[in-house]
Parts: sequence; C-alpha cells; structure tokens
Amino acid sequence: MNDDYLEIRGLTVEFDGFRAVDAVDLTLLQGRLHFLIGPNGAGKTTLVDAVTGLVPATGLVRHRRQDLLRTKPHRIVRAGIGRTFQTATVFEGLSVLQNLDIAGGIHRRAWRMGFARRGTPSYVEEALEIIGLASLRDRPAGVLAHGQKQWLEIGMLLVQDARVMLLDEPVAGMSTEEREETGDLLRRIGSERTIVVIEHDMDFVRTYADVVTVMHAGKVLAEGTVAEIQADPRVQQVYLGRAHEPMQEADHA
Ligand SMILES: Nc1ncnc2c1ncn2[C@@H]1O[C@H](COP(=O)(O)OP(=O)(O)OP(=O)(O)O)[C@@H](O)[C@H]1O
Ligand SMILES: [Mg+2]
Repeated sequence: MNDDYLEIRGLTVEFDGFRAVDAVDLTLLQGRLHFLIGPNGAGKTTLVDAVTGLVPATGLVRHRRQDLLRTKPHRIVRAGIGRTFQTATVFEGLSVLQNLDIAGGIHRRAWRMGFARRGTPSYVEEALEIIGLASLRDRPAGVLAHGQKQWLEIGMLLVQDARVMLLDEPVAGMSTEEREETGDLLRRIGSERTIVVIEHDMDFVRTYADVVTVMHAGKVLAEGTVAEIQADPRVQQVYLGRAHEPMQEADHA
C-alpha cells in the first residue's frame, strides 16, 4: 500500500467558456505533503471540486484504475477520496462524537444503521485520539474553536478512511499554535495517505511542504520543492505585489 497515488491529466473546467482550470497535469504521491498554492482565482478550489465530482470537468483523474471524472460524488467518497471546504462544514448542533459517527456511516451497511450500537466504534475512538479531541467528544461541535473544527473535519475524513485528502485552506484563520498542531497532524496522517493542502501562508508552506505546485490562471505555473519554486522567476512575478508576503523573503528566514 505504499504506491497509492492520484493522477490528473489535462484536467479542464469551463464556466461559460471561461477556463477556471486549464489542462492541468498533476501527480499526487502517497507520503508526500503536496501543497497547492497560487493567487486568488487561480483555480485551486475548482480543481478540488472537479476531482471530487462537484463540477463537470474533462480530462483524466485516476485513482487505483478508477476514472473519477466518470464517478458520482458519493462513490468518489466511498472510493476513499475526501475533501474539506474553505469554511468548516461540521454539524454544529451535534457532538464531536456524533459528527464522526455520521461521517463513518458511509461504510456501514444501510440495514445496520438503525440498530442501536453499543459503545463507540474503534475507528471513531482512533480518529478522536489522532485529531486530539478525545476530551471534547461530547461537546457540541458548534462550541469548538476554529482550529478544532478543522481538526474535526479531518477526523471525519479519517473515519471515512479517506486515502486521498484534499484540504482547502485548513489553517486559514488559525493561531500560530493551532497551525503548528495542524502541520504536525498532517505529517502524522500523511505518511500513509495522499494529501493535498491548498494554502496561502508561505510560512506554513515552507515548514511542511514536501512538494509545491503553483497554479496561476487555471494552469500549473511551476512545481518542485519550496526552494525550487521560490527561485523560479515566473513564480516570483505572479506573487510579487499580490501576496502579503513576497516569496523572496524566504531566503532570509
Ligand atoms: N461556479 C462558478 N461559476 C463561474 N465561475 C466560477 C465558479 N467557481 C469558480 N469560478 C471562477 O473560477 C476561477 C477560479 O476560482 P477558484 O475558486 O477555483 O480559485 P482559487 O484558486 O480557489 O482562489 P482562492 O485562493 O481565492 O480560494 C475564478 O475566476 C472564479 O471566479
Ligand atoms: Mg479557493
């Protein structure tokens, strides 16, 4: 199981003739934290929407011989492809545990769902530990701190047994401490999964990225290690005057 990957070839998404994603090639390998960066409107979220079946797309997205562009969204989830959204989508009125239990339900047979089950399934317990929310299991998700909600969402992907996780700006709005905890969490769960993180914060990217793909105007502009993409003049051009933090500052970090 160490050769899992997601292969994207010629992925294209058009909205009324406008190409939000334009012939993107991307190979995502298990065990590498792969970051997707680029200015607002570059097409990052749309790419994830296309992979998860939320917008129509052309090209090829292959995972374990399955063409995801020809697979319905709920089957894509069952195939082990999970994603989070730019704004958290947990059920605020339900407890942390209930949120995880519901997410895990996709792998239970429908006829068993109605049966009262004794205790918490072991995979839910495990996820609670991994995301560090075990002591908050009975709290309503609505009272969780911003960072904790994102961790709960990641936990929901864990109980779904997502082999591929596409995370859309998971650390946006987090404190420095929460960011660090999230980065460490991603490293822990990333070794045996294929993880893509969309992110704007270059400090976070520098600290945790194994590979970075830069998107611009729907296309892949550059791909490589953090050092490689930072040294790329085209990347600097796209980022200069747009990002809050010019990328060449990394050289002094
Ligand atoms: N449903 C839609 N209909 C029409 N245009 C859309 C739709 N969704 C996205 N777009 C356009 O596609 C382009 C890419 O948007 P997308 O949200 O993928 O960018 P992004 O890289 O995720 O940006 P951000 O960093 O701001 O989240 C933008 O120009 C956006 O306005
Ligand atoms: Mg986006």
